[in-house]
Amino acid sequence: TNFIALIPAAGSGSRVGERAPKQYLPLAGKMMIYHALRTLCRVRRISKVCVVLAPEDGEWVQHDWSEFAGKIQTFPCGGLTRAESVTNGLKALMAAGQAADEDWILVHDAARPGLSVNLTERLLDELAEDEVGGLLAIPLADTLKRATSHARVARTESRDGLWQAQTPQMFRAGLLLSALEQAPAEITDDASAIEALGLSPKLVLGDSYNFKVTYPQDLALAELILRERMT
Ligand code: C5P
Repeated sequence: TNFIALIPAAGSGSRVGERAPKQYLPLAGKMMIYHALRTLCRVRRISKVCVVLAPEDGEWVQHDWSEFAGKIQTFPCGGLTRAESVTNGLKALMAAGQAADEDWILVHDAARPGLSVNLTERLLDELAEDEVGGLLAIPLADTLKRATSHARVARTESRDGLWQAQTPQMFRAGLLLSALEQAPAEITDDASAIEALGLSPKLVLGDSYNFKVTYPQDLALAELILRERMT
């Protein structure tokens, strides 16, 4: 079985407050997506890194990706939602005979540039023999408030047993594709599609460097972390 990484990079980045898709925002001298690509390409067991781009993407081709040559491949088949982008990418891979049902797919967001090689290796080590697959996640640190419609506290919720999902999320190609094809439209990660089949993905301890760049202020924190890593 092969380990193949798949990066859905067809989002628009509206929440981060920029007009350019957020994977192309500058970060530590490179573009955001460069950092996750670099990490995934450095993991020896990962044979291929597939990037799913929006069909109208004009940015990718303007940059030099030759340092990753031989390991990365682009698919200009992004969809309207993240799930659609992953589904389309997976279909393209399998139709080209580049992924078999039993191969492992690691789906990773371009918007998580802080992923490290060590953390990715941990995910592979913990899941390679697993029946279902799973994802990186961290136990919630903050106290949770349920809000009224007027942004007042209705009550405090227990955070006991609650984890924040990260990526990569790692499942067998065949299972992931059929799960995504049957999944409800509102899912926001790949594990949810697997859960909807009645399966229970494994939670593998992630780390907080692997946070998702969502809001403008997240960029400053990512810049600090990655500037250090790039030196
Ligand atoms: O917007 P959000 O942070 O949830 O996006 C998560 C990841 O999914 C990003 O890497 C983004 O590029 C990708 N995405 C996609 N196709 C979409 C929407 C988001 O590939 N239609």
